[in-house]
Amino acid sequence: MVVAYRRRADLAEKVVEEAKRLGAPEAYAVGVDVGDPASVSSMSSRVGELVPYLNVVVNAAGVLQLGGVEETSIEEWEETLRVNLTGVFLMTRSLLPLMKRAPWASIVNVASIAGETGNVVAGVAYSASKAGVIGLTKRLAVQLASLGIRVNAVAPSFVETDMTRSFLDTPEKRERIASLHPLRIILKPEDVAEAILFLADPSRSRGITGHVLSINAGRRT
Ligand SMILES: NC(=O)c1ccc[n+]([C@@H]2O[C@H](COP(=O)([O-])OP(=O)(O)OC[C@H]3O[C@@H](n4cnc5c(N)ncnc54)[C@H](OP(=O)(O)O)[C@@H]3O)[C@@H](O)[C@H]2O)c1
Repeated sequence: MVVAYRRRADLAEKVVEEAKRLGAPEAYAVGVDVGDPASVSSMSSRVGELVPYLNVVVNAAGVLQLGGVEETSIEEWEETLRVNLTGVFLMTRSLLPLMKRAPWASIVNVASIAGETGNVVAGVAYSASKAGVIGLTKRLAVQLASLGIRVNAVAPSFVETDMTRSFLDTPEKRERIASLHPLRIILKPEDVAEAILFLADPSRSRGITGHVLSINAGRRT
């Protein structure tokens, strides 16, 4: 297993330790800026030295952007697209040779409800980037099907992570976010992880590709 991180090497090392504790025979942490072609290229060379092939690639790196069309600078727009969308393209392109060497492989991209509906807190660049991830997922699914590589996405609504912590730091805010969802829950990272595991594992989802699995606690807008 290889965990990619940008700045938080300490957190990546924790994931590596946990993976080993759970029985992963090999686990490594490798730094990368997913939106930078040179960084992605050196990361994939390093991964190629560490493991013979890759079965699963999960493209989860992302940055949040807030603000409507008039409040969004061109720099903010480009940085959001660079990380959230170009990052998925670059990582997929760069890691494809290692996936081709595997007996089976699948890709799971982390999109968002913001790519499916416009009625969200996130900004215009974030929504556009995540809609792009959905389109890219569908196109890659068709293109890579002849190689037996499945490509799917998850589209979560609000999940309690570092990205959303400031929206959930009082009981009133939590109640407001929960009330957006018919199930009246705030999603946890584990809810998303279970869906990713399902889509990644051919023994559970071998007939599914080009699919966007919404994890939205019933929220449709
Ligand atoms: N939380 C939600 O409500 C929610 C809902 C829908 C979708 N999502 C998506 O879920 C994914 C995970 O987000 P999260 O909620 O777990 O947020 P998070 O805690 O902020 O994690 C985002 C991760 O992306 C990494 N990252 C950011 N820019 C990067 C870059 N240029 N290169 C490599 N890594 C980079 C960050 O690394 P560093 O910390 O080192 O910068 C961090 O590990 C994102 O794609 C996000 O858009 C989140």
